[in-house]
Amino acid sequence: MKNSVIIISAILVALLVVWLVMRFNRPGGLDKYQAPYNVQSITIIDIDDLQKQARAVIPQGGYDYIAGGAETERTMHRNITSFDMVDIYPRVLRGVDEPDLRTVILGEQISLPVIIAPAAAHGLAHTSAEAGTARGAAASGTIMSVSNYASVSLAEIAAAGNGAPQWFQLYLSKDDKFNRHIVALAESLGYRAIILTVDAPVGGNRIRDLRNDFKFPLALPNVAPKSGNTKGQGISAIFAAAQNRFAAEAVRYVKSMTNLPVIVKGIQHPDDADVAIEAGADAIWVSNHGGRQLDGAPGAFEVLGDVAKRVNKRVPVIFDSGIRRGTHIFKAIASGADVVAVGRPVIYALALGGWKGVESLFDYLKEDLRRVMWLAGAQTVNDIKRTELRIRDNCDKNLHLSEKSL
Ligand SMILES: Cc1cc2nc3c(=O)[nH]c(=O)nc-3n(C[C@H](O)[C@H](O)[C@H](O)COP(=O)(O)O)c2cc1C
Repeated sequence: MKNSVIIISAILVALLVVWLVMRFNRPGGLDKYQAPYNVQSITIIDIDDLQKQARAVIPQGGYDYIAGGAETERTMHRNITSFDMVDIYPRVLRGVDEPDLRTVILGEQISLPVIIAPAAAHGLAHTSAEAGTARGAAASGTIMSVSNYASVSLAEIAAAGNGAPQWFQLYLSKDDKFNRHIVALAESLGYRAIILTVDAPVGGNRIRDLRNDFKFPLALPNVAPKSGNTKGQGISAIFAAAQNRFAAEAVRYVKSMTNLPVIVKGIQHPDDADVAIEAGADAIWVSNHGGRQLDGAPGAFEVLGDVAKRVNKRVPVIFDSGIRRGTHIFKAIASGADVVAVGRPVIYALALGGWKGVESLFDYLKEDLRRVMWLAGAQTVNDIKRTELRIRDNCDKNLHLSEKSL
């Protein structure tokens, strides 16, 4: 009897140790980084839950790089909470039936007004990396934006997209030849727009990465000719090869090297929207980089209305930073965005189910947005643009929202 108690106790202790090791020592170092690899449809009830599930399967350093923001992460959190500062004013007698989510952006017909934001190193989240995301985007009928810092080659991502629309996001290098080479390569591979990111003259101060001493455990092959072997480099070392100064001439420079539409990403101030459009931008992408750059900037949604008003339909407006649900998509479009983009949720879905996980995410967003449109009285995406928003009574009246919503 005594012996069996000792044996059972020993087994329990051993199991506890194994669990603790697996829970807290997920491989995240340079040599032993093991990204998830399951390919399966996933059930999504809420994106907060999705994030928690993803956290359990992505190695710690990779997870913090993806989920984290700059410094105190206040701006990152405000990206989400600022949507609560306005309400949707529902119309219930408009005869809406089975809302139509389809829309067109820069000539591309998409199945819902949500596209994929460019994000570095999807290989941290899944072994299929951006090739998996591209297949999921194609299956979902939306656009994949591909980061310059992708973990697989632009050619492999284009092949996985199988003809679905893809846009290439450029971090300008200091090297003119390299810029011309990568833009020409993207163009020759069938990418249909260039996204010029202008909000990262330096990397944001990302405390989680500093605490983890985070280094990319995987190569970033598309910048390898400029940044050398990126495996083992921190983000600031990689940014060192990139351009540190942005003004109108950066937009003109990229326009001069391609016939593709050039989208300027990272705009938060109406005056910058003017600068970009006057320099030839074909679309404005309002974003604060998911709160990863300047902590202390407003929530991205707070500046959307003012920027959209200044753009005044001269070019399309794309919006990201904080989109997590149908009501967010709805409020952003009602405030002047033509389409919105999602960053982190795509990476979490990829981690949990590969390309099928990405498809599940878009199924979830479609269902959620369709319900919101139905309840709010919007038959089409254009109807969302005509829907009234109301600022909540107890909210800061200095909120920058579109004129219509004030
Ligand atoms: C892990 C990660 C990597 C990112 N890498 C890039 C990048 O390479 N280029 C870029 O323009 N934006 C990058 N972003 C910013 C996204 O394009 C987008 O602006 C942001 O994720 C939107 O916020 P959300 O994650 O709350 O949806 C990255 C974001 C994340 C989370």
